[in-house]
Amino acid sequence: MKKLLCAIASAVICCGQAIAADAPAAIEQGTVWLDTDGNPINAHGGGMLYHDGKYYWYGEYKTGETVLPDWATWEAYRTDVTGVSCYSSPDLTTWTFEGIVLPAVKDDPDHDLHPSKVCERPKVVYNAKTGKFVMWFHAESADYSKACAGVAVADSPTGPYTYLGSFRPNEAMSRDQTVFVDDDGKAYQFASSENNQTLYINELTDDYLRPTGRFTRNFIGMSREAPAVFKRDGKYYMLSSGCTAWDPNKAELAVADSVMGPWTTIGEPCTGPEADKTFYGQSTYVLPVQGKDGLYIAMFDRWKKTDLADSRYIWLPIDFSGESITIPWRESWSPSDF
Ligand code: GAL
Repeated sequence: MKKLLCAIASAVICCGQAIAADAPAAIEQGTVWLDTDGNPINAHGGGMLYHDGKYYWYGEYKTGETVLPDWATWEAYRTDVTGVSCYSSPDLTTWTFEGIVLPAVKDDPDHDLHPSKVCERPKVVYNAKTGKFVMWFHAESADYSKACAGVAVADSPTGPYTYLGSFRPNEAMSRDQTVFVDDDGKAYQFASSENNQTLYINELTDDYLRPTGRFTRNFIGMSREAPAVFKRDGKYYMLSSGCTAWDPNKAELAVADSVMGPWTTIGEPCTGPEADKTFYGQSTYVLPVQGKDGLYIAMFDRWKKTDLADSRYIWLPIDFSGESITIPWRESWSPSDF
């Protein structure tokens, strides 16, 4: 196993070796990334939160065997639900496992978090008004017919999170999803809807726990999935994938002057080898890095559909310097380069 991340700020143990304090931190795409205990980081379909000087990384904790159910008419590979994991880091390179902050509920077969269900794409946002940490995720049945959003809430970024239940926002299907908080504190859920044919942007209530009822239908007939939303210089951007289950496809970037749209597709941002397959990745989040003006990291999952627990990560800086916005391939790089 190769290491992906090594600390810059302090000496850490990585692959059983002490790394010198001044060693450059390297993000090595698609290798096994280790936490500070030396275990592979397990946080897929994830999202980031920056809070009080720390980064928190939430994701699907995938363990155990990957199976293709008997009924599957498509490549519905799955692992049992284990829960949502959380890792923390001061510098985006050294990650400490904070535990499974929303665990599976093993004793209730009807619960959304029962191992037999599906729990994907968790995102956590902080609500400054209520002081709560709010998690939204894709709450599914094994056959993906439920198409709901699940919501959980906590007093601390590392939980424990209390599950509040699931529903279809604005009565519409909600599958791949993310939550975006604007500068004015208003939050929005972006979700693939209507059998993944459209993407709904659902404005959330002030406590971020429910939709207000105000929503827009976007990317109609375009089958966008894996939305990752960010704001730069007053404009809103959404990175997304096409709709081919665990298999890679071409990423697309879209832009809007107003968060609820209208949105305009700009085109494929990835450049370099296998760019038309998003480097064998699928978007999950775009992180504006604190204190590094202009550094936005596009985060992708590199799914391994027949062994989902061994899926990997690709993180790439977005390049805004040219005429168009691009995400060039880099085999390895370091946030300290910026
Ligand atoms: C992908 C989606 C993943 C997962 C997968 C299941 O299209 O982005 O989050 O739902 O399908 O096949």
